[in-house]
Amino acid sequence: MVSFMKKRHWIIVPVILLILLIIVGSIIYLDSIKKKERSPEFIFTYAENQSESYPTSQGAKYFAQLVEERTGGRIKILVYTGGELGREADIITQMRYGGVDFARISLSQLAVVDDKLNVLQMPYLYDNAEHMWSVLDGEIGNSFLKEIGRYDLVGLSWYDAGCRNFYTTTSVNTLEDMQGLTIRVQQSDLMIDMVNSLGATAAPLSYEEVYSALQLGTIDGAENNWPSYEDTGHCDVAKYLLEDEHTRVPEMQLCSANTWKLLSEADKDIIKECALESAIYERDLWAEREDSSKESAIRTGVVVSQLPPEEKERFRELMAPVYEKYCSEYMDLLNEIIRKEEEPE
Ligand code: GCU
Repeated sequence: MVSFMKKRHWIIVPVILLILLIIVGSIIYLDSIKKKERSPEFIFTYAENQSESYPTSQGAKYFAQLVEERTGGRIKILVYTGGELGREADIITQMRYGGVDFARISLSQLAVVDDKLNVLQMPYLYDNAEHMWSVLDGEIGNSFLKEIGRYDLVGLSWYDAGCRNFYTTTSVNTLEDMQGLTIRVQQSDLMIDMVNSLGATAAPLSYEEVYSALQLGTIDGAENNWPSYEDTGHCDVAKYLLEDEHTRVPEMQLCSANTWKLLSEADKDIIKECALESAIYERDLWAEREDSSKESAIRTGVVVSQLPPEEKERFRELMAPVYEKYCSEYMDLLNEIIRKEEEPE
């Protein structure tokens, strides 16, 4: 009996060991497959110079989420907000050489690379938001998304950035009040000429420098949309806002051409479709944020004044030489944009 037990032992122990080995092996194998499924094929960067809660940042995050979902986690996009990856002008350079993969950039900075884009952001060009969207959502907008391809960038979609107003540390209600003031503009020749033509002195500074320049008094004012005015705290240091709606400067969501080259046709399609969906999402957020920013800025004591139509006409008339300088080569296109306002929807 004892000898039989001993014999059985010799058989059972190796069998148990074998079973254990198979179980452990399978666990390790399955885990490695899972890990493979989970680890992305591409990890890309996305640059955004606005704060985390800002509509364009939220649009970027939604875009990244859609891309990750629709590629089964193969493509991961890390969104860096608050200008963490650099200033807009530097981001454009980095994208052109492949250092940053995706970004959302203000048109006025892109127009420094491709001056034809200025036609889309001329002062007092659009009568309202519908007019601008009828241009950007149609053939003209699409042709500009393609056009930027000449500069190692891939245009994906248009984001909303509302309309821009002047805000100052002293009250401005007329053209006379503008004379001699130093007003910060984006680093763009068009924006410099616009402000200088109104009799003020343009100070081209990057977005990040405006708050301290207002606070130190090295500038008397700046211009931007309601959400930027409120989100950056400019409304705390420049309490007078003249709602003249002088420009609509839309924004483009872009991919670096170097990054684009790495993607399959199917992935390119997914990215384009996610960019367009994120743009629709951003536009909804934008409309809400424009109202809430205005309300909260007014609550902090901002004084808002409107530009009466006759006064606005005086501002507008001073733009004639600016149109001459930036649009004379593109008159047909400009007229087509202007005509869009009269077209029935
Ligand atoms: C807007 C835009 C920014 C830009 C800024 C500016 O806020 O969204 O991208 O940098 O204008 O005035 O520079």
